Parts: sequence; C-alpha cells; structure tokens
Amino acid sequence: MTTADPTPALAPAITGLPADDTWWRTAVIYQVYPRSFADADGDGTGDLPGITAHLDHLADLGVDALWLSPFYPSPQRDGGYDVADYRAVDPRYGTLADFDALLARAHELGIRVIVDLVPNHCSDQHPAFCAALAAAPGSDERALFHFRDGRGPDGSLPPNDWTSMFEGPAWTRITEADGSPGQWYLHLFDPGQPDWNWDNAAVREDFQETLRFWLDRGTDGFRVDVCDALVKAPGLPDWPRPTHGVIEPVDGVMPPMWDQEGIHEIFRTWRRLLDTYDGRRILCAEAWLPPERAARIIRADEMHQAFNFRFLETPWQADALRDVIDASLAANDAVGAPTTWVLSNHDVMRHASRFGYEGPVELEHGVGADDPQPDRPLGLRRARAATALMLALPGSAYLYQGEELGLPEATALPDAARQDPVWERSGHRIRGRDGCRVPLPWTAEGPAFGFGDNPDTWLPQPADYGSYAVSAQRDRPGSTLRLYRGLLELRRRHRLGAGDLRWTASPDQVLRFANGPVEVMANFGTEPVALPAGTRLLASSAPVTDRVPPDTTVWFTTESRQA
Ligand code: GLC
Repeated sequence: MTTADPTPALAPAITGLPADDTWWRTAVIYQVYPRSFADADGDGTGDLPGITAHLDHLADLGVDALWLSPFYPSPQRDGGYDVADYRAVDPRYGTLADFDALLARAHELGIRVIVDLVPNHCSDQHPAFCAALAAAPGSDERALFHFRDGRGPDGSLPPNDWTSMFEGPAWTRITEADGSPGQWYLHLFDPGQPDWNWDNAAVREDFQETLRFWLDRGTDGFRVDVCDALVKAPGLPDWPRPTHGVIEPVDGVMPPMWDQEGIHEIFRTWRRLLDTYDGRRILCAEAWLPPERAARIIRADEMHQAFNFRFLETPWQADALRDVIDASLAANDAVGAPTTWVLSNHDVMRHASRFGYEGPVELEHGVGADDPQPDRPLGLRRARAATALMLALPGSAYLYQGEELGLPEATALPDAARQDPVWERSGHRIRGRDGCRVPLPWTAEGPAFGFGDNPDTWLPQPADYGSYAVSAQRDRPGSTLRLYRGLLELRRRHRLGAGDLRWTASPDQVLRFANGPVEVMANFGTEPVALPAGTRLLASSAPVTDRVPPDTTVWFTTESRQA
C-alpha cells in the first residue's frame, strides 16, 4: 500500500499566510471541484494547473482557504471519491509538482489549502483491494476490507440487509480465483468503493502515512469524507430502516454503520498527528449528523470543525432558520468549537435553484429536462438573501465554486451525459448530482465559456452559462459576484466570524440580529418591511429604499451603534 513519490516534498511555503493558530474558527473556505473548475490542458476536464491559473479569482473574492475535492488517481466511478492511490495525482489532473505549485501560489496569496481525505472506502482498483480479490477467504489481504460469506444454504444472499447510499444492496459478491461464486464485500456506496476495515491496525497505519504525506508537503488540513462511517457495529447487525439523509438515533441507538463510538479514537490519533506540525492544520468532518451528534466529533482533542448540514437542509423560512441557527450555536458552543455554515456543495442542488421551488426539495435527486423547473429569478433572489444571512453569522463558512456567480443547477442535462453512479443503480429513477458539477463559466463567450479550449467539456454546459461568467459580473454593479466580494470584505472588516449573535425582536417572517456593530435583517414575508430609522446601509442582497423588500437580507448600522 505504498506509493512511489517521484517528486521531492517541498518545505511548507507559509510566507503569505497570517501566523494565526485560530484562522479556521472564522475562515471562509471555498470548495473547488477540480474536474469542473478550469481546464488548462484542453482535454475537457479541469485540472490542477487550471486551478493555479485562477487563484487570483479566489484572492479577489477574499476567501481564507480552499478545499480541493479529490484529485487522486481514480477510475471516477464516483467523481474521484473512489481513490486508487491516496498519495499521488491523477494524470488527468496533473502531477505532484502541479500540486506543489498550486499550494505555493495559494500560500503566496494568503490562501490555505485543505485536501479531501476519503478514509471510509477506496476504489476497487486500489492495489490493496486487487490483492484482496486475488487472495483467499480469511487471508490478511481480505482482512483489510469487510469480506463475509453470504447467507442462505449456498451463500447467495448478502451477509446483511444494509443498502448502499447509491441504491441497491451494500454488498457485492465476488468470483473467487478458482472461478467459484465467492464471498461478499461491503460497500456503503458504489460497488467500485469497497469499505476499509478500520478494526485492522494496518488500515490505521496506512492512513497515518497518507496524512503525513500531504502534511509534509505543506497542506493545511483535510476535509474528511463520510467520517462517521469508519467504524461499524460489531457483527454488522441488520438495520431494516432507512440510512439516508441526516442520520438520527432510533430509540437512542445509532444505525450500525453510522457514528459508532469507535470513530472518536481514530480522530484523536489524527489530531495528535496534526498537532505535531505547526498547530495550524485542520480537520473538517463530513458527517450528515444532527448538530448535537456532529459536535461530539469536534470536541477539543478531535477534529476542528464539522459541516453543518442541518443548516443546508433548512428551507427559506424564518422560524426554521432561526431554530437551526440557535441549535447549531448551542451544540458547538458546548464543545468550544466554531459553528460552520454551508448552503451548497458538490452533492446537493445548488441553492440558487433549490430556493426556486416552493416546498421541499430532494437535495441529491437531480432534475431532468422534463421535471418541474425551478423559478430562476426567485431562486437567485432567495439564494443571495440566504448567503447574506449566512455570511453575517459567527463561525466559519463554506462556499461552493460557482455560487459566487449565482450559478443555477444544470436542470436539463441530457440523461446520456450523466455520470453519477446513482442514475444507473436506481434504474434511472434518481438523476443524481451532476447538475451541480458542470464546468464553470469564466468568460461570456468562447469555447466552454473560458473553462478551457475544448468546447467538449466532461459534462455539457447549458447554453446560458455564459451570462453567469466571472468576466460578465466582475464590473457589473449589483452582480452576485460583487455582492459576495462585498459581503466577504465587510465580514472581515467587522470581524463577524469572531462575533456573537444577538437576536432582536422582529415582526413575523422577519429575522433580525446584531453581530458586533453590524445589524442584519432578513425579510422572508411577502410584504416590504421598514428599515429602522437612522440606518446606514452596508450591504443588501437586492435593491432597497427605506423598506426591505421580500426575500432580501440587509446589513446596516444604526446611529446608536455607530456612536
Ligand atoms: C461524500 C462525498 C460524495 C461521495 C460520498 C462517497 O458524501 O461528498 O460526493 O459520493 O461521500 O465518497
């Protein structure tokens, strides 16, 4: 399980970074999905040199860090979350030297870089899994994964009733080396993503090595994929209940594949390793858990922060948002960790489209050309208001590439172009997550709208994506890009990330709070509401007069506060 490293590690280049041990507590972290950010070599797929070439965009935007989704060698059965080699770069994305160059340039610009760690599963092309297939039942090679005999007299039934997150059983039967029907292996996701057995010390040691590999190169931390699934309940008991969405305990018991007590010891080991560096490297948990369960992962000696998916799942409703904000702050304050906020990522419908539907939306189902389409202007208006609300909250915020352009979900992709494994595994019932992964528009014109020279991008871009391009918005007053830039600048200037939220009494359908000197008012109703007297407007998600129109968030100071 070792990887040849043809490129010597560079010393961490920290010249442009603030010497700040708590940067992550207030950071705005921008997610780059490498396949779709920018294509420097013209093959229709984004790559690391493409990212490096556009880092000035992130510096301009004013983010503190970027998170790179996987760029490791991978058969791309699940957009790179099927890793065949944890310590190398997929040739489609470049080389380790390209990674080092990206990191060095980002650091010069004062931007930290965290990478994706995918510890729950690897690719079925990973050498360790290939060796396990070739080895016999009961071998050391098989013990790195969850291999079991099947149920039933001839072992033709899966070992338990767990279902895959991508539909169908969570087990696949193999053919043994001698051609006979063989054992089954566990994959909570695609069959191309076998789950590692974290009870095995060799798996733990190998991941320590992977962490060191990226830390030694100067990487600032890790976003940890499906971290709550690493440890499974002993005996892998049946669980005849749903396991999707935000995972809740049932009668006080967590499902046997999620949030088992044993995960915490793993995170503590990682934290100890990170702390042997300069005290500025971080771990961010991806776990679809309610705030109080997620908070247990970010106790002082475990990870630094966790995504707040409860916030992301909340519709554009005043009461619901207020409740989730309070619950999130309470849960995280209780363990001394910053609360994070997020509205979009590579797994869910972009919020500019999500908010364009009245009523609940299936986040990961995707939309086809024949499905009901979102109301675009409404979606964008609410998305801008939601972002303005989010960026005023204390803690750390995550942005997903393209949201700063107000980019809508691609809701009419040709079905033949779809790549998300759930589309095939669900028998074409669930379209999946491709609509939020379409290559970005950088210029209003030109092949692939400036994504690269090749118009034949790996997912086709909608014809109107050019109107959302960076170049079309940079200097346009009122553009979404300028709104984001302005909010981030104000957020930094007024230290909102480090602030405190205090609610102010407000009419129904209105949320109002103060954070430091800044007051925020969001109107969720259908009628305009008056701005308080003596207000100085700092920012607004839509044009306002002395009244805040529906679906609008404003930031302001009042005379009493300025005094
Ligand atoms: C995480 C990733 C998602 C991936 C899954 C399996 O949820 O964000 O994209 O499909 O894990 O790795």
